[in-house]
Amino acid sequence: MTSPSWPETSRDGVTAPDLGYGVPGSADALRHVMGHFASGVTIATALHHGIKHAMTATAVCSVSLEPPLVLVCVSKASRFHGAISKATHWCLSLLTVDQEALARHFANRGRDLLSQFDRVPHTPSPLSGTPLVDGALAWLECTTYGRHDGGDHTIVVGQIVRASGLPSDDDPNARPPLTYYRGAYS
Ligand SMILES: Cc1cc2nc3c(=O)[nH]c(=O)nc-3n(C[C@H](O)[C@H](O)[C@H](O)COP(=O)(O)O)c2cc1C
Repeated sequence: MTSPSWPETSRDGVTAPDLGYGVPGSADALRHVMGHFASGVTIATALHHGIKHAMTATAVCSVSLEPPLVLVCVSKASRFHGAISKATHWCLSLLTVDQEALARHFANRGRDLLSQFDRVPHTPSPLSGTPLVDGALAWLECTTYGRHDGGDHTIVVGQIVRASGLPSDDDPNARPPLTYYRGAYS
């Protein structure tokens, strides 16, 4: 039996692991394998001391129905980490396929925090005034239910206190979601 190696080159020239035997867990392995897990794209937002904070986030998942909980994993190195830790409420706007530019904007580490919403149409959330991205597929407003250490991220669990989305698939304004898969938007 040959020992597994990392990385290998697959038929399409993309670096790929030997899935037969597996490879030791590593940041590269996680990036590569989880890059094959297609996800929706959200903009996480928080309002703190009157400053509108935001961050593109795909590490988002529903957690519980009773109570209604979702989670977002936030890098401890991000500026958003401080904001979501201190804000009373935070929001997730689920992007449509037309909103890739927004996803890129709020993932840009160099952007200016104070002006980052200047050219982004948005609406204050009902309970806290946290920015909701206009034209999003759906949005959630949350209070923090729990915070858990997740290595270089914090797993922030939110209790949904307000939510809205398009009513049905046959709505004439319905748009497909923006997705992220193997490092590309579609
Ligand atoms: C497609 C995509 C998804 C991302 N998802 C997350 C995520 O779930 N959690 C996270 O902490 N950072 C995520 N990031 C990185 C942040 O968006 C990025 O680091 C952001 O600029 C942090 O901004 P800040 O430091 O100003 O808060 C993602 C980036 C991209 C491009």
